[in-house]
Amino acid sequence: MAEFIPVPPFDLVVFGATGDLSLRKLFPALLHRFLDGQIPAQSRIIGVARSDLDTESFRNMVRESRGKFSPNACVDEGKCEDFVRHVEYARVDASAPAEQWAALKDLLANGNGNVRIFYLSTAPSLFVTIAERLQETGLATANSRIVLEKPIGRDLASSRAINDGVGRVFDEQRTFRIDHYLGKETVQNLLVLRFANMMVEPVWSREHIDHVQITVAEELGVEGRADYYDKSGALRDMVQNHLLQLLCLVALESPNSMDADAIRTEKLKVLSALRRIGPMDVAGKTVRGQYRAGLVDGKPAPAYADEVGKPSRTETFVAIKAQVDNWRWAGVPFYLRTGKRMSARRSEIVVQFKDTPVPIFGANAGVPNRLVLRIQPDEGVRLWLNMKEPGPGGLRIKAAPLDLTFEDAFGVRYPDAYERLLMDVVRGNLALFMRRDEVDAAWKWADELLAAWDANGAEPYPYAAGSNGPTQSALLMDRDGRAWWDPD
Ligand code: BG6
Repeated sequence: MAEFIPVPPFDLVVFGATGDLSLRKLFPALLHRFLDGQIPAQSRIIGVARSDLDTESFRNMVRESRGKFSPNACVDEGKCEDFVRHVEYARVDASAPAEQWAALKDLLANGNGNVRIFYLSTAPSLFVTIAERLQETGLATANSRIVLEKPIGRDLASSRAINDGVGRVFDEQRTFRIDHYLGKETVQNLLVLRFANMMVEPVWSREHIDHVQITVAEELGVEGRADYYDKSGALRDMVQNHLLQLLCLVALESPNSMDADAIRTEKLKVLSALRRIGPMDVAGKTVRGQYRAGLVDGKPAPAYADEVGKPSRTETFVAIKAQVDNWRWAGVPFYLRTGKRMSARRSEIVVQFKDTPVPIFGANAGVPNRLVLRIQPDEGVRLWLNMKEPGPGGLRIKAAPLDLTFEDAFGVRYPDAYERLLMDVVRGNLALFMRRDEVDAAWKWADELLAAWDANGAEPYPYAAGSNGPTQSALLMDRDGRAWWDPD
């Protein structure tokens, strides 16, 4: 039986409420929290967008998205309807002057001391304007918080401008920068695995680890976001945030506690120790790719250029050999890889250990141990150990997994990352949100790499939709005598 910590009554205002993220993720996440009884009855949920809708039409959108994105959520139709009737809608053009924000002000009147949350699921170019309007209208009260969806800008300069502008209204303690990967169960479990099990720490360093692989592969293409994605590409969309955050959690030193700043300070140290990748290194340490037409899951998928409707140099795949220059990790490469339209949806961290020092079993010595943390789908942890194959006929060694598939082991529904993160905002727990200096450090590293790619001028390598990326990605590993862990 899942447990949850009660939260105080809150008013949640979602800007960009008719957008893909809100309907696909935020409202379904809120529905689940509501059905579990975690949302106090005095709470209010308000969708805000520019569209000329009344509350009932917006509720219909929420009902539709529920059918599409959480088809199995509603065992009790009546309860689901209760949730939908909890949702209000205010038509506001975020860039319009404060006087035109009356619809939202009216809905938020009589707050009764509820915690107030403004969730900005809009283009980042609107973040500062919205924060300013919230101040001008008096809606940003002392117990208000702001949630910023990624991307926070498209480089260090624009990210700083956003953080400065929003920071003039909301201080750091009230600013929740979301990276939804931090809300995923296996990702949180990484901290538990590392710091609640004494047997892990002694082997968690260059003494015993050969390398780490972090893969975030998607079957999806750019869907309805071609415009945004083509200006962004895989490095900005996935690596600067999700993959670097995963790397931080693998590499960080033990924080003194689960206090938000204790964790975030340790992550910052990792980001600061990331080796820069300059123009001389890009060819040897990175691979950019772009998908061509192919078959994904047996169905034809168009080329990226056809999806965005023009020739493009944007990367939809990236592989990087990263290095963390500190005592624990010196000489241990972190291979990062992410791509759209890959062979399967699979996010995984593979920690590969070194070979045994003396192969006493000869040629039949087995393979290096691997710890595989499966983030999605089929969340779980597998530790591959070499075992003797049972039976006569000599000493045959085979790698077999100690398998902790969470669903089997714990038998609970897997909450979506947003469920956890939204409730953390209400509770005011910043531990799973990015601090400003982390975002700066990640952009600094990404900016240098982007500039190096620009200077190098090479086109992205083609790969067929439905494959594991361009051949050059396999070569990146092969040159080091290693290979990606791609189980069938
Ligand atoms: C988002 C990216 O942050 O993460 C998307 O903008 C990507 O391009 C998505 O598809 C992947 O998230 P998940 O949870 O489906 O792995």
